[in-house]
Amino acid sequence: MANAKVTKAVIPVAGLGTRFLPATKAMPKEMLTVVAKPLIQYAVEEALEAGIREFVFVTGRGKSAIENHFDKPYELSDTLAKKGKMHELELVEKILPKDARIYYTRQGEPKGLGHAIHAAAGITRDEPFAVLLPDDVMCTGSENALAKMLDIYHETGKSVCLCEEVPMERTSQYGILDVVGSVENRRAAAKGFVEKPKPEKAPSNLAVIGRYVLTARHMDFLAEGTVGAGNEIQLTDAMAKVAAENGFFGYVSASKRFDCGDKVGFQMANLYFALQDDYIAPLLAPYVLEVAAGLERRGK
Ligand code: UTP
Repeated sequence: MANAKVTKAVIPVAGLGTRFLPATKAMPKEMLTVVAKPLIQYAVEEALEAGIREFVFVTGRGKSAIENHFDKPYELSDTLAKKGKMHELELVEKILPKDARIYYTRQGEPKGLGHAIHAAAGITRDEPFAVLLPDDVMCTGSENALAKMLDIYHETGKSVCLCEEVPMERTSQYGILDVVGSVENRRAAAKGFVEKPKPEKAPSNLAVIGRYVLTARHMDFLAEGTVGAGNEIQLTDAMAKVAAENGFFGYVSASKRFDCGDKVGFQMANLYFALQDDYIAPLLAPYVLEVAAGLERRGK
């Protein structure tokens, strides 16, 4: 029997975003912009490109700006049309295609990523689903990694997480894939995960990053509510149980990724995407070079 088709993406957006205070006191972290587009929209566009049309946003207190962003903007569209601002009209109209659908569910309190994902269980039911963490912004120019991960799931029926090769000395900052055999065609079979291992204890240098395609079995383990590291319900704990039971695949990313949950990664993403923009790049690039030359003169 063919494996069930993945039609839904769960996007957790209920976190507190403490690393971006005070900006995130009254505004969701996921609405921070890289150039002029919110982080959450990058994630939705990536999933749309991979063929997903149904989204489950797990929201929390103070996140209504996200719902407003994806609402049909009747008044704004009308005003832009009357003013003849057709380019701007297109920008707001294409935020969500007509055949896409969003469901909202709430995570009562931020008790960890696993807890947030489980809040979507009533909507995903017994179906497999994708998960995108909007903090991780992917450059999809060369490949859409999520689309590749969906192919692996549909072919094998096993869960898949996105991985990135990291220098061995940095394994202690990530969840690391415990691989079986070698990586072939960017695909690594795994029997588990090791949370933040020291380099000498790390089973590989493949760090798990914020894209997953998960079987419904994950929801069974998350329903147990087992509290893990940081006193939170961890998605990786459920993933480890599924991996032990049925195996797991890592897909080794070929795309550039920015960790926009961190201030440095966020600034890098802004610079990178600004320098890809036809209007901004020619105006910004000379300034960037001037700043870099100044840093070099001062030996920084
Ligand atoms: P992070 O681990 O970056 O946590 O979440 P955070 O709370 O948003 O940020 P900091 O560390 O305090 O700055 C990754 C993604 O998971 C969501 C977040 O909204 C973000 O999109 N998340 C995290 C939840 O939905 N619920 C949680 O309990 C934790």
